[in-house]
Amino acid sequence: MLMLKEHFSVNSQGHLVIGGLDAVELAERFGTPLYVADEQRIRERYRRFLRAFAERWPDVRVHYALKANSNMAVVKVLQSEGAGADVSSEIELRIALNVGIPGDRMVFNGNYKNSRELELAISNDVLINVDSFQELEAVDRIARRLGKRARIGFRINPDVRADTHPYIAVGLRESKFGFDVASGQALAAYARAKGMSSVEIFGIHANVGSQILDVAPFEEEAEKIMALVSEVKEKFDIDIRFVDLGGGIGIPYKPGDRELHPEEVAEKVVGVISRVVREKGLERPTLLLEPGRYLVGDSCVLLARVGYIKERPGMPTWVAVDAGMNALMRPALYGAYHHIELANKMNQKNEFLVNVAGPLCESGDFLGKDRKLPVVEQGDLAVIFDVGAYGLAMACQHTAQPRPAMVLVNGGRAEIVRKRETYDDLTRLDQIPSWLK
Ligand SMILES: Cc1ncc(COP(=O)(O)O)c(C=O)c1O
Repeated sequence: MLMLKEHFSVNSQGHLVIGGLDAVELAERFGTPLYVADEQRIRERYRRFLRAFAERWPDVRVHYALKANSNMAVVKVLQSEGAGADVSSEIELRIALNVGIPGDRMVFNGNYKNSRELELAISNDVLINVDSFQELEAVDRIARRLGKRARIGFRINPDVRADTHPYIAVGLRESKFGFDVASGQALAAYARAKGMSSVEIFGIHANVGSQILDVAPFEEEAEKIMALVSEVKEKFDIDIRFVDLGGGIGIPYKPGDRELHPEEVAEKVVGVISRVVREKGLERPTLLLEPGRYLVGDSCVLLARVGYIKERPGMPTWVAVDAGMNALMRPALYGAYHHIELANKMNQKNEFLVNVAGPLCESGDFLGKDRKLPVVEQGDLAVIFDVGAYGLAMACQHTAQPRPAMVLVNGGRAEIVRKRETYDDLTRLDQIPSWLK
């Protein structure tokens, strides 16, 4: 058995307990595949994250990155803690507004914001982290039409290497994001914006990537951002009020993975910011952070029922469960590791080598390979850990599989916060053309 994180326990029947509830009973009551999110864990993570920075810097704002998990109940939990939002699409922005996060506590990120999205953001006073010169023109034009002044920052490309999967290392010079610093484009963006009547410059933003377990890339990012903050002040007399370091703090997925504590990151980046502010005599900026995975990643598990077991002499046994890459895409997409146990046999020894697969018709449809589990039998309940970030948010309907349901648990209570999809949900948008009727 693995060392469970502190928000889990095992009861006298050897069943996993989450939020004070027996996972086996949850699966019986709500069906499988089932995402289970622990409200208390999300709250604890938020408080710890905020505290780590707020103890070291006077003005800090934590904007939850909705892309990690945009379920309305999850966002509501964070809103009730006082979190702002980092949104990257119209619907994320509307979800955040809907649960009560004011527009001026949001940032809008991404390299392609369409005009409808920009209109919505500008009308709600959302801080837009502009990603290109053409986007800047669009923001200025739309704001003028709306009779508003858009609040903007610039996303810069800090050219920082982070040891993570290439698809989520987004701070490298070759990446599609942000204004190139090395060639002077980032600086030129501030000069251009200064002459525009319908934009107001507030910030600077970068994001080095996701699932980062080392403090060095964050420190390097802070150095590069602060160098630009001073240059912008020196050359154009612009005071940058928001320094937005993005998200990216990772979580341990695999037994033995190191943990990156937000306190370590806060210590380093605040060290850099205070030094530059002091040396250059700058106004003290507000520090913005956009954590996603750190806040919600380990708050959720996915429960999946074991259907069939296929033994093959000399090879790992195939265990087929009712959740596949449709329900959790990370193993197929990034080769990501998610720890798996049997929720109904937590006290038994993991000694048999298995591959855990879903029901879809491709070989990429697995949740884990070469894993050790107790003797697996039909009807056992597999639990896949650490699926709160980029789990349900990236689920899809491949093979017309309905996306799973999700329950929120807290102190022995459980309620559905995302219904299981049905035939009607999956076919609602399809239409047969008139000539085939
Ligand atoms: C701009 C931006 N901010 C924040 C995040 C959240 O990252 P994480 O979930 O790793 O904290 C991402 C993730 O891709 C991002 O692109």
